[in-house]
Amino acid sequence: MFDSNGIVSTARRLKKIMEWPIHKFMPVAIKAWIMQPNNASISNTTWNDEYDSGAWDYLSSTKEVGRYSVIVGYCLHFKPAARILDVGCGTGILARWLSNAAISSYLGIDLSEAAIEKARQSNIQRAEFAVADVTTFQTSQLFDVIVFNEVLYYLRNPDDYLGRFARYLAPGGILVVSMWHHADGINTWKRLRAGFEELDRVRIVHVQSGLRWNVAVLIPR
Ligand SMILES: C[S@@+](CC[C@H](N)C(=O)[O-])C[C@H]1O[C@@H](n2cnc3c(N)ncnc32)[C@H](O)[C@@H]1O
Repeated sequence: MFDSNGIVSTARRLKKIMEWPIHKFMPVAIKAWIMQPNNASISNTTWNDEYDSGAWDYLSSTKEVGRYSVIVGYCLHFKPAARILDVGCGTGILARWLSNAAISSYLGIDLSEAAIEKARQSNIQRAEFAVADVTTFQTSQLFDVIVFNEVLYYLRNPDDYLGRFARYLAPGGILVVSMWHHADGINTWKRLRAGFEELDRVRIVHVQSGLRWNVAVLIPR
């Protein structure tokens, strides 16, 4: 059977194919269609298996540097000494980027126990990690920056979750969203703009692979 997990893994395999030089001859629309992850949720067992097998190790590669740099830059520029919540933090790559920056605190949450275990084993300074599902997460804490870094397309109705998390923003707080370019992403950005004001947005292109990301700073309307 070809369930939603199957579709998503196929999309990921195709994303890898996009790193071959053939992508250079392909129209952007076709590329974006191939790369769409269908906004489908994936079980934590699948995430755990993928983290254990090293399938996500490529997130630490050079071609991903652009988006982490921009996210860190936005955090420091808009909210120096911020309390940061990183939703779907994976193995804590962003936490490592932030560990030497002037932030006040960092909490990373993720569905995958394997990812959180790896993050904790890295002993990243001033970073805390918790296993939590975006769809049920609740906290009494407030944050100056809430980051959704490459996670929204694994949630159905991602704008609803952004709205729900906005209640954990301290006054004047911001949301930072990163999404790689894919067909569904265009609709997601449209829906996000309906409920949130876009203070800034950059588009990152990794020239050798052709991979592109949009990273934006949003505030509730
Ligand atoms: C593509 S990875 C990005 C990881 C990290 N943000 C980064 O860019 O380094 C997506 C992450 O979202 C997490 N995730 C997916 N659905 C989730 C959910 N419902 N609740 C919490 N985390 C979730 C996955 O476990 C995975 O670690």
